Amino acid sequence: MTDAKRQILVTSALPYANGPIHIGHLVEYIQTDIWVRFQKMQGHECYYVCADDAHGTPIMLRAQKEGITPEALIAKTSEEHQTDFKDFAVAFDNYHSTHSDENRDLARSIYKTLEKQGHINKHTIKQAYDPEKEMFLPDRFIRGECPKCGAKDQYGDSCEVCGATYSPTDLKNPVSAVSGATPIEKESEHYFFKLGDFNDMLHEWTRGGHLQAEVTNKLDEWFEAGLQEWDISRDAPYFGFEIPNAPDKYFYVWLDAPMGYLASFKHLCEKSHIDFEAWTKSGSNTEMIHFIGKDIIYFHALFWPAILQGSGYRTPTSIYAHGFLTVDGQKMSKSRGTFITARTYLEHLNPEYLRYYFAAKLGSGVDDIDLNLDDFLLRVNSDLVGKVVNIASRCAGFIKKRFNGALADAIHNQELFDTLTNANSIIADAYEQREYAKAMREIMLLADKANQYIDEQQPWVIAKQEATDSELQAICTMGINCFRLLIIYLKPVLPIMAEKAEAFLNIDALQWQDAKAPLLNHTINPFKPLMTRVEQEHIDAMVEASKDDLSSTETASELTGHLKDNPIADEITIDDFMKVDLRVAKIVKAEHVEGADKLLQLTLDLGGQTRNVFAGIKSAYNPEDLEGKLTVMVANLAPRKMRFGLSEGMVLAAGAGGKDVFVLSPDDGAEPGMRVK
Ligand code: 2FM
Ligand code: ZN
Repeated sequence: MTDAKRQILVTSALPYANGPIHIGHLVEYIQTDIWVRFQKMQGHECYYVCADDAHGTPIMLRAQKEGITPEALIAKTSEEHQTDFKDFAVAFDNYHSTHSDENRDLARSIYKTLEKQGHINKHTIKQAYDPEKEMFLPDRFIRGECPKCGAKDQYGDSCEVCGATYSPTDLKNPVSAVSGATPIEKESEHYFFKLGDFNDMLHEWTRGGHLQAEVTNKLDEWFEAGLQEWDISRDAPYFGFEIPNAPDKYFYVWLDAPMGYLASFKHLCEKSHIDFEAWTKSGSNTEMIHFIGKDIIYFHALFWPAILQGSGYRTPTSIYAHGFLTVDGQKMSKSRGTFITARTYLEHLNPEYLRYYFAAKLGSGVDDIDLNLDDFLLRVNSDLVGKVVNIASRCAGFIKKRFNGALADAIHNQELFDTLTNANSIIADAYEQREYAKAMREIMLLADKANQYIDEQQPWVIAKQEATDSELQAICTMGINCFRLLIIYLKPVLPIMAEKAEAFLNIDALQWQDAKAPLLNHTINPFKPLMTRVEQEHIDAMVEASKDDLSSTETASELTGHLKDNPIADEITIDDFMKVDLRVAKIVKAEHVEGADKLLQLTLDLGGQTRNVFAGIKSAYNPEDLEGKLTVMVANLAPRKMRFGLSEGMVLAAGAGGKDVFVLSPDDGAEPGMRVK
């Protein structure tokens, strides 16, 4: 059942340190965590490391907007990320940061080796520059009209309307999304990694069984286009690591990000006395496996192996790319409430529902997977609650009541037991191959067989017949054994439920090889419900809360808060506008909202009527400064259920964001309730 002991280092892509973890991210972390838990259950030496991806312009600007240092921002985000992962039972052996000493040392030493070997070039290039903010602008921070179709307010690298890709200098009427200024072109010297030096090595490596077939095919297109030199430097101001002997030049975030895998592992090695060199140097027999999303294949399947090869490290054993998540068949959307953060999900639903659902959908390919919320409810309730947990709950009561918790000393139906126990290798193969959907199907077929057995044996009927005690004990022992095997097989996916099952079964942590032998002559504990049903109202509440989740990730325009960068919404008619009833309201009370980053709770007097409104203006106002002020509100907005309570209207405010948000105040003489013209 267990091969020779393997040594496996596993990573998931490093999340950026400027936004929350959402269910789209979780596809990957759950996929990886299942694989790692499976390897650990097999008895292999397997380490799962990750880190926050802490560098780059968006993080620098985000910190500026929040009025804090980048270090403070990434520390706060790291804590949030780690809590989310822990609550989803994603169990890293180490979680670090790319802004760490280990990573700085690695980035510098790898760079120096590459430079010494002649793999670095310098060129002077022209780039868009914000003369007001005095910084070079990444493509995403330039907006303008698409040179192809003329669509307004498009990013500097591609048009969301016609799909054209271009360089920011092609944009018509470009503006800086940071300050609103018109960018100028400015020259600066950049450092380039000569990817072409590794053409032959990469050609061979990408065909060497390290990648999924569809990924190799995709790479062929890139090979045909020719491997370009990669710009690995950025000018100050930049949040990152300075390039040695290059004043005011920083490593581009994507250079030191994958190095963060090694840095996190190094940090673990230092704490746990693992031989970092033996695991990571060229020629090592260990495995190094990266789980990633399909959008970052280029970085992982070309740049990264080349950098490792060029600097004397081992190259990856495998790169496993997965697809994106859609919800109810569509891209996650804030307005539909399907852009669901990990935290919002956790506030409403059990994390293992999602772990199971993703497992039931995941294969080894790069296809997108869909979270269909109706199917989610049906599948979790039918499979986990209806099939698996049900087996234990149907048998446990009799064992406890009638036999004081004692299991029988023999297997009642050897054939059924053999069917379940022998299935372990097919399920193990499916896990190993990341064919989790297949594994879940196999497991549920076994659960069906176990339930069928109980249906046929009818322990509840036998329980009424005094003379058949030993038969009742044998049947229920058989049922409990089936349940135990199913829990072994599901444990990589459902570690929390498995732990509860282990407590109920009164046994040590289950390993894969425990599936060989039955549990007999053993006393179990009273059964406690292991999982409750998914309720529709909890799903609805989660979707509703996601619509209002103001702390969700922000777009570049929200990040900079600049007016020029915020597209004007679709046109409305005067009739539409007349429907909006704007009134003067007096802020009678303003309070902090526990757990909300951006909201204040306002009690508004509308001249006789009182309204409770949640307003996203906490960054700009202390609650006490608002009390007694008059403001303008939309009085006829339908009440909305938000995560923190009912919001009965909307207060109007304007500004660039951060501290610059101003509630609109009517002139002197206004009275609460007056209509605003
Ligand atoms: O795409 C992303 O979200 C990146 N932060 C992933 C980095 S993975 C690795 F290379 F560090
Ligand atoms: Zn266009």
